[in-house]
Amino acid sequence: MNTKAIIGVQPELPYSIEEAVNRLRINVSFFGTDVRKILIVSSEPNEGKSFVAMSLWKQMALAGEKSILIDADMRKSVMVENYKISREDGKELWGLSHYLSDNKKLVDCILSTDIPDGDLLPNVNNIINPSMLLESERFSNLLDSLAKEYRYVFLDVPPLGLVSDAERIGHICDGAILTVRSGVTPKAIIRSSVAQLERAGCPLLGVVLNRAGAGGGKYYGKYYGKYYGKYYGKYYSEEYYKKT
Ligand SMILES: Nc1ncnc2c1ncn2[C@@H]1O[C@H](COP(=O)(O)OP(=O)(O)OP(=O)(O)O)[C@@H](O)[C@H]1O
Ligand SMILES: [Mg+2]
Repeated sequence: MNTKAIIGVQPELPYSIEEAVNRLRINVSFFGTDVRKILIVSSEPNEGKSFVAMSLWKQMALAGEKSILIDADMRKSVMVENYKISREDGKELWGLSHYLSDNKKLVDCILSTDIPDGDLLPNVNNIINPSMLLESERFSNLLDSLAKEYRYVFLDVPPLGLVSDAERIGHICDGAILTVRSGVTPKAIIRSSVAQLERAGCPLLGVVLNRAGAGGGKYYGKYYGKYYGKYYGKYYSEEYYKKT
C-alpha cells in the first residue's frame, strides 16, 4: 500500500485553463494504448512544463485513467515545495532519487492522493548530476514496470536546451509533449528541440502553446494548446513553425 500524500496547495485553475487542459487530455487519449510513458518537455526553463505536467496528470486521473506523475527534474525539483506535499503518516518523504540511488523500496516513494487513480512519485533531494542514475537499468526498469501498472506515466523533466537529461529520458519514453512559451521561445530554438527529440528517438506527440496572452493576474490570461496526433505530429509541427 502506498502512503497517502497531503497536498497543501491545490490551486483552482480558471475555467479557460481547465478547458484547455481537458482538450489536451482528450488528445493524449487518442495517441493509442502503446503510448504510455510521456515526457513533458520544453526547450528553455520556465515555459510551463511542471504546470502542464501536473494539470494533465490531474485531469487524466480524475477522468479515471490510472496515472502517475514522476518529478524527473532531479536537478531542480519543485513539486514538493510548490504543492506543499507531505506524507499523511508524518514520516520522512522519499522520492525518485532515493529510489534510484539509495535502494529504497518503490512502495515507500510513491504517494497516493485524494484522486483514486492519481499517484505521484516526487523527488525530494536534488542531485547535481543525475546522468548516471537516468542511464541506469534501475530507471528504465522502473518506467517499464510503472507503464504496466499505470495507463499513463507522465514525466516532468529539465529543459532540453540546458542539460541532456530530457534526451536520456526521452530515449526510453513513448513520446514527448513539447511545451512552448507562446510568443517567447524563439523558433530556431524550438526547431532544435524537435531535432533533439528526433535524435533521441522520442516521437513528438504534440506541442502545447503555453502562457499565451500577456498580463492579467496570476495565470497569464488566455491559455491554449495545439495538440497533434502521433502520426501527424512532425508534419503539423513543421507547418506550424513555418507559419509563425
Ligand atoms: N498556463 C499558465 N498560465 C499561467 N501561469 C503559468 C502557466 N504555465 C506556467 N505558469 C507559471 O509559470 C511559472 C513557470 O512554470 P513551470 O514551473 O511550470 O515551468 P517549467 O518549464 O517547469 O520551469 P523549469 O524549467 O524551471 O522547470 C510558474 O510560476 C507557473 O505557475
Ligand atoms: Mg519545471
